[in-house]
Amino acid sequence: MELQEIYGKETVRARIKELADEIKKWLPKNETLVCLCVLRGAIMFFVDLVRELEEYDVRLDFVSLVSYGDATSSSGKVTLLQDIRENVEGKRVLIVEDIVDSGYTLQYLKRFFSDKNVKEFKIACLLDKPCRQVDVNADYTAFKLDSDRYVVGYGLDAAQKYRNLNGIYEVK
Ligand code: PRP
Repeated sequence: MELQEIYGKETVRARIKELADEIKKWLPKNETLVCLCVLRGAIMFFVDLVRELEEYDVRLDFVSLVSYGDATSSSGKVTLLQDIRENVEGKRVLIVEDIVDSGYTLQYLKRFFSDKNVKEFKIACLLDKPCRQVDVNADYTAFKLDSDRYVVGYGLDAAQKYRNLNGIYEVK
């Protein structure tokens, strides 16, 4: 497999700082924020993003979701493997995703939180692909891909490989 860098480590770091500054505009200093990592792909983005919110009362929680399909298409079936543990009622929630592709996973998450009586939830995603099957979008997006590229690194995998890379790469 040949990898070509799209966004290097420093570019990713700088963009996450900018994104955190945007998120801070939504966040009053005296309020609790539950940051929700959508495992597994979002882990790197999540860790770097929450570290930029040091001055806030941030609680960390995790869901594990799997969307069935192959590397190039999604079936639309999303399954919850691990549920949240925090009580999110009345709180602000930031859902942190690695990539929005067909949109099925985001749609699932929006429905998931619609009956949890949260104060407000927003979605931050690292990468946005132009391939929606359902019309959902993140509130904060770090990078928009202009075409359907197969990307790995910084949490994203190819058959579980490459998640630990510091940059984002296209598989050629
Ligand atoms: C990937 C990715 C997103 C989802 C996006 O998850 O992490 O959660 O697909 O695709 P969609 O917009 O088409 O729903 P995957 O099921 O591959 O699990 P992973 O995060 O463990 O890699």
